[in-house]
Amino acid sequence: MQRGRNYVGLCPFHKEKTPSFNVSEERNLFKCFGCGRSGDSIAFIQEHLHLDFVEAVRHIATSLGISIPENVSAEEVANAGKREAVLKVLAEAVEFYHGVLYSSDGAPAQNFYKIRNLLPETIEQFSLGASPAAWDIATTYMQQHGFTVDLLVEAGISVQNEDGRVYDRFRGRAMFPIRDHLGRAVGFSGRTLSADPTTAKYINSPQSIVFDKGRILYGLDKARKPIAERGMALLVEGQVDVIAMHQAGFTHCVATSGTAVTPDHVRMIKKYAGTMVLVYDADDAGRKAMQRAIGLALPEGMHVRCATLPTGADPDSFLREHGNKKMEDLIDNAPSWMHYLVEFYASNTVSDNPVQQGRVLRSLLTLIRSIPDALQHPFHVRELAGLFHLPEETLLAELAGTKQPEKPMQQPQTARTPRSPVPTAGKPQPPEILPAERALLTAALTIENGLTDLLNAFNCTDETFISPMAQAVYRRIVVCSDDYPDFRQHLRESAITNSAEDKIIQSILSATGEPSSKWSSFDVDIPEKETARFLRDAIGTMQVYKIDAEIRALKEQTTVAQTESDRKVILHSISKLLQQRFEIITAIQNNTGSALWPDADSASVS
Ligand code: CTP
Ligand code: MN
Repeated sequence: MQRGRNYVGLCPFHKEKTPSFNVSEERNLFKCFGCGRSGDSIAFIQEHLHLDFVEAVRHIATSLGISIPENVSAEEVANAGKREAVLKVLAEAVEFYHGVLYSSDGAPAQNFYKIRNLLPETIEQFSLGASPAAWDIATTYMQQHGFTVDLLVEAGISVQNEDGRVYDRFRGRAMFPIRDHLGRAVGFSGRTLSADPTTAKYINSPQSIVFDKGRILYGLDKARKPIAERGMALLVEGQVDVIAMHQAGFTHCVATSGTAVTPDHVRMIKKYAGTMVLVYDADDAGRKAMQRAIGLALPEGMHVRCATLPTGADPDSFLREHGNKKMEDLIDNAPSWMHYLVEFYASNTVSDNPVQQGRVLRSLLTLIRSIPDALQHPFHVRELAGLFHLPEETLLAELAGTKQPEKPMQQPQTARTPRSPVPTAGKPQPPEILPAERALLTAALTIENGLTDLLNAFNCTDETFISPMAQAVYRRIVVCSDDYPDFRQHLRESAITNSAEDKIIQSILSATGEPSSKWSSFDVDIPEKETARFLRDAIGTMQVYKIDAEIRALKEQTTVAQTESDRKVILHSISKLLQQRFEIITAIQNNTGSALWPDADSASVS
């Protein structure tokens, strides 16, 4: 029966006498106001015929006489199959090693966990285990459970030597399953339990079809929500450290798996939060790791702080010796990366040698320059000038003087594209977030690849946003996109959760459903370039807001400035900001690129 634009009938999913099942042909959606089920036509077929997504798509295609081309190569199918199989091996191995921990073979590992103060529930939470101190118990067990030797070797559980002999990779070790961000076991780290100095302290699974050390952060499956909630990640060096930190309540803690930090690691963290605090050892290795991490994190637009542990301590031993409160202080008071580096250089007797001082300054300026948001540069320069007791102008001039030549401006494009709202012309919106923030969130929620582009091409972190609410909404979207491939649909359906974040998400999603919305033009066929432009304009607009806030703050400072020269420095900063503001507005209006963000061409991404 047709009612208005919709069709109404009896719900196929629950028994009812009066029709409450609505179908909107226009919007390709169904909703039952009786039982609450809703979704698109694919979801309907899935529910109705109890099929999975792919099966449902095939069912619809077949009924319409469409044949779905097999555009996946045989190799891709084979690889997907192999990946599944390897993941199954690893999941089974986690159970096996965990079981061994509670057998007599597990006594040495139990003892190790006890010395490290790891509680039984922590051992459960991280599925810690033990490998038997024998040659092939694991391999035999796994074979008995139907896994072939080839597969066990592929998964890194077994090793085959040149004579073809097969044996266990991990023998007599405390076993730490390494999981990906979704919690699937992709490998192991095994710590020796013997005092023999010739055995490796840690043995890790080899690189495999599912395990890429450069892209795995230990603990991320458990830490990503806490990281997103706090807008901050703690980075430590070892697995035991992560476990000890989580047990102590620092659940926003992750570690690299026996490798140095990679750009991928930084990007993974950046998805959830714009700030990371490095909690590293004060020894040489720790310092090197710290410098490397800073150098990688800044170009990604991350804010970095550095907590230094006493020499010889790591987070695990520090917690055991000094307790949670001291750790909390250490993290809360962790200085900025710049403070940390300057202090480090100062302690290395750089202080009274101008040649070395110049070198240090230049390397710090290079780091500042690597921060993609040029708007932040003057503030870092101010901090640096303060630390070296130098006039800001000197450093600003140096920073400007050694700047890379800018790309020539692009010709303005003639194509008309939807614009993100500029600060002066915003429709009334929910007060918690700004129109430009809403525009970016809308892009993340409704444009195909919108979120991917924001994350990868525009270095958009939660700190790109200004209001705490928009930051929280963005983090919510990012976390959800990990859990659900069709996170948009998921967020649409989770209307019931009453958090303020979800309300904003709902309001964006429901606004875009209306044909009158200007966003409806975004539903289909936006050339990548135009999407990029849209995102760029919104980010540019946000930068204008930030500049305005800075200018207001600086203006206030002029009224309390003590000396004429202080006032001059502030006015200088204001004039720089005004110039940047002008450049951004001009670039938005002319649709040209800018030094501050990628132009539409270079920003169009896959
Ligand atoms: N690591 C490794 N291989 C090694 C040594 C270390 O993969 N031969 C990695 C491990 O991931 C380890 C991290 O580096 O967790 C830190 O190493 P280290 O500081 O030596 O170990 P701790 O974690 O302090 O070791 P533990 O607390 O287990 O004694
Ligand atoms: Mn340790």
